[in-house]
Amino acid sequence: MSATIYDSKPLAARMTEELRAEAAQFRKHHQRPARLAQLVAGHDAAAEVYSRQLVRSCRAIGLDCATLAYPFEIEEEDLRVEVAALNDDANTDGVVLLLPLPAHIRQRIVTDVLRPEKDVDGLGSRNAGNLLLGFPSFIPSTADAMLAVLRDAGIAVDGGNAVIVGRSNIGGKPIALVLLRQDATVTICHSYTHDLASITRSADILVVSTGRPGSITADMVKPGAIVLDAGINTINGKVVGDIDFAGVKEVASFLTPVPGGLGPLTHLMLIRHTLLGPQ
Ligand SMILES: NC(=O)c1ccc[n+]([C@@H]2O[C@H](COP(=O)([O-])OP(=O)(O)OC[C@H]3O[C@@H](n4cnc5c(N)ncnc54)[C@H](OP(=O)(O)O)[C@@H]3O)[C@@H](O)[C@H]2O)c1
Repeated sequence: MSATIYDSKPLAARMTEELRAEAAQFRKHHQRPARLAQLVAGHDAAAEVYSRQLVRSCRAIGLDCATLAYPFEIEEEDLRVEVAALNDDANTDGVVLLLPLPAHIRQRIVTDVLRPEKDVDGLGSRNAGNLLLGFPSFIPSTADAMLAVLRDAGIAVDGGNAVIVGRSNIGGKPIALVLLRQDATVTICHSYTHDLASITRSADILVVSTGRPGSITADMVKPGAIVLDAGINTINGKVVGDIDFAGVKEVASFLTPVPGGLGPLTHLMLIRHTLLGPQ
């Protein structure tokens, strides 16, 4: 079997057109463009790729995108104060904190300052709690992008076995909650999982968010499975996902590539949330 490789370009183009119209509406209504601020602390190759793409997407749609870069050594309290200032800035509509943060900074301390309506990547406790409870919230952009791909490709997951590899707050956990909301039977795996391959082979839908290139190989995938790769890794200047693409495409029935799969849609989700923010 050779998988259908999902190309997110047509969906991204349609969403871009819709968002351009919404951004123009926003400008007319507020007499200024919508503004998304992204905060970056320290250097991380994947986060920098992500950050550059987000700036490009904002420009293409007509949003201001401010990149606020801080040294790795920034103190937790100083970063918290920066976020608090953006909360009070009437001209900033969305705030994204690029991960990973330096190890000495507790994510919760920084994200929980943020008003839920500006927390466009759904990282704070209010949005995350609402997602858990099934209440309206901003869904983290990767999970939202996954949902958009499933809808666009006409893939129903209800009743199917969904296995998520990775349990981060920005990746695996919200992806699992979104799939649960779609009535999938959900299993979350992580680095302590025994016999990972036997679990991933039970997946009708397999979503991988480990941050480890090649962490899922062909022998770990059920023939005909739907496989979504949320990874963004840079190896020798080349962007790759978390699965062994060449091997897995011979076994799966549907596969999202990296680059060109979920990634470009995640930016659009952040932009969509930003345009919804200040009501
Ligand atoms: N598409 C996007 O827009 C987007 C957005 C954000 C991140 N990403 C990408 O998504 C990937 C994951 O990011 P993240 O922030 O979720 O990473 P993270 O915080 O490092 O979490 C990785 C998760 O994977 C688990 N894991 C790692 N190696 C594993 C293995 N060999 N087998 C089973 N589980 C394993 C870890 O388990 P433990 O919990 O036990 O340590 C952890 O739960 C990265 O490539 C990142 O660049 C993409």
